[in-house]
Amino acid sequence: MGKDKLRKFTEIGSFSNVYQLEEGLANKGKWAEKHFGNEKPVVLELACGKGEYAVNMAKAFPDINFIGVDYKGNRIWRGAKTALEEQVDNVAFLRIQIEELLEYFAKGEVSEIWITFPDPQPQLSREKKRLTSDRFLEKYKVVLEEGGRMHLKTDNDGLYAYTVEKLTERGETIVASTDDLYHSALLNDTLRIKTYYEKKYLVVGKNINYLSWRFR
Ligand SMILES: C[S@@+](CC[C@H](N)C(=O)[O-])C[C@H]1O[C@@H](n2cnc3c(N)ncnc32)[C@H](O)[C@@H]1O
Repeated sequence: MGKDKLRKFTEIGSFSNVYQLEEGLANKGKWAEKHFGNEKPVVLELACGKGEYAVNMAKAFPDINFIGVDYKGNRIWRGAKTALEEQVDNVAFLRIQIEELLEYFAKGEVSEIWITFPDPQPQLSREKKRLTSDRFLEKYKVVLEEGGRMHLKTDNDGLYAYTVEKLTERGETIVASTDDLYHSALLNDTLRIKTYYEKKYLVVGKNINYLSWRFR
């Protein structure tokens, strides 16, 4: 690990808005109460990286609690540091593998989930690693409250097509979809929030896909 990565990794250990691995276990079923000290809804940003969605949505929606989830501590550092510096108290970060989601969130604890620019894992042999494969969808379905919304933003046309097909095959309800968000009537202030990776794709003229659904 490089010096800067190591420094950030060490520093997040002292951040009051970051939970690493087992530290987060005690909050299962009680994130709103135990971390945020309220009973407001909890929204997740999965594969949050630097947490642009979690932090910017927290600023825009003070009556919602946001939690960014990623396993890379040096990326989470950015969002957590910004939130501390700007006193955005309704956002926290959890450094875990998303595979472990059910260990950290209780059934129906989450009102909405955003997945922002996940690694597309294009090789068929890695399908299980895709964050919209069946094994992940089953976990989201458990932690989401009834009727809770899912959102996916991706530059990857293959992952977008795969997810549309998967949801259709499963009989889930697609609420909104576009393969060109920035030229779509769906665009709103929330969807205009840009992540670190998204900005890179936009600079080279890549179309951005957006998909939203509810589970049956
Ligand atoms: C391409 S980056 C996108 C980061 C950010 N959302 C953005 O758009 O800038 C994908 C992120 O997903 C995280 N990630 C991938 N698989 C994961 C998993 N199984 N559990 C937790 N994080 C994961 C990686 O650490 C990485 O930060």
